[in-house]
Amino acid sequence: MTTRRHVLTHGAALFGAASSGLLLPQLALAQSNKVRVGFMLPYTGTFAQLGVAIENGFRMALDEQGGKLGGREVEFFKVDDESNPAKGIENAQRLVQRDRVDVLVGTVHSGVQMGIHRVARDTGVLSLIPNAGVHAATRALCAPNVFRTSFTNSQPTLALGKAMVERGHKKAVWITWNYAAGEEAYEGFEQSYTAAGGTIVKKLGLPFPNVEFQALLTEIAALKPDAVACFFAGGGAAKFLRDFHAAGLHKTIQLYGSGFLTEGVLEAAGEAANGVLTTMHYSDSLDTPRNKQFRLNYAKAFKMQPDVYAVQGYDTGLLLVQGANKVKGDLSNKKDLYAAMEGAVIDSPRGKWTMSKAHNPVQDMYLRKVENKENKVIGIAQKAVADPATGCKMA
Ligand code: PHB
Repeated sequence: MTTRRHVLTHGAALFGAASSGLLLPQLALAQSNKVRVGFMLPYTGTFAQLGVAIENGFRMALDEQGGKLGGREVEFFKVDDESNPAKGIENAQRLVQRDRVDVLVGTVHSGVQMGIHRVARDTGVLSLIPNAGVHAATRALCAPNVFRTSFTNSQPTLALGKAMVERGHKKAVWITWNYAAGEEAYEGFEQSYTAAGGTIVKKLGLPFPNVEFQALLTEIAALKPDAVACFFAGGGAAKFLRDFHAAGLHKTIQLYGSGFLTEGVLEAAGEAANGVLTTMHYSDSLDTPRNKQFRLNYAKAFKMQPDVYAVQGYDTGLLLVQGANKVKGDLSNKKDLYAAMEGAVIDSPRGKWTMSKAHNPVQDMYLRKVENKENKVIGIAQKAVADPATGCKMA
């Protein structure tokens, strides 16, 4: 890791050497020859652990290549975006303009992503989205230099409705944070649940990242639905699981969610997560050699268990490796770089996936049930789910 201070002092030293005629050409070349990768991720707040998992996964994919991209050394830059949309543009500009990154890897929060997206479209910097599912990034505002390795917000919930109705849960309450990710997860849920014959009794929400769930849980108890479906993630998801359970709602109401609800929080939620059903493009328990090897290597390297965010970070690294290898490290060859990334087949721990024309994964959605602190796969909820990419016209 190169800290900003180090880069600045080192840069100043080089400048001083150059002006006094002492610049070592090889050193200057080595310095400028590194691929500059910027992480713009949450390292504080309710999504902090998601940011860490993404960075870990990304680094692991590069470490498997001896730490190189297309034969070139890599230099990292980091900004904590705090999941704060108000600072999204400014933080992205910092990485692009001050740190002059070649690739921007970020972020988790859909609102912050819109800031990154604006900067990516304005500057043409390569933008890799390792989580945030905001629809616009691969729909109406899709762009040749923007690739997502995660999902769109409605992809997991498009697979949820049918599974719920098949289990006889035909009357549901929806609850989420009121921001893009929650709204768009609702879109997928509404579409799939009503198409399968379910009725949404009420849509509830609270501001992000508020976790005062009590009044809303009281309202749910009074409504007596068959099921509750939701979108929550990170620290807030753990709290929601615990509060739902403590209120005794799990005894009469089946809890469902977009799979983020039970990712990276199973230790924190304890028995409150048992029996919760979710749909997601990954599961800890996927019984494939690829997943088992990944989980083993990740646990060894980082002394913690991977989750879907770690997988998405890893896949972001795999995608960039494929592109960079194709152009032998010359990331300025955008035509060939983007063509290689568009055509990439990612051999992921989640299963193989391909990139849609709008630059979003086409992937299977698993139905999972939490048992003893593990997301157990109980079936494939839907095969090869593709986002509709409405309004996407690549320039
Ligand atoms: C988002 O804001 O797009 C988002 C955040 C956390 C998740 C999923 C999506 O787990």
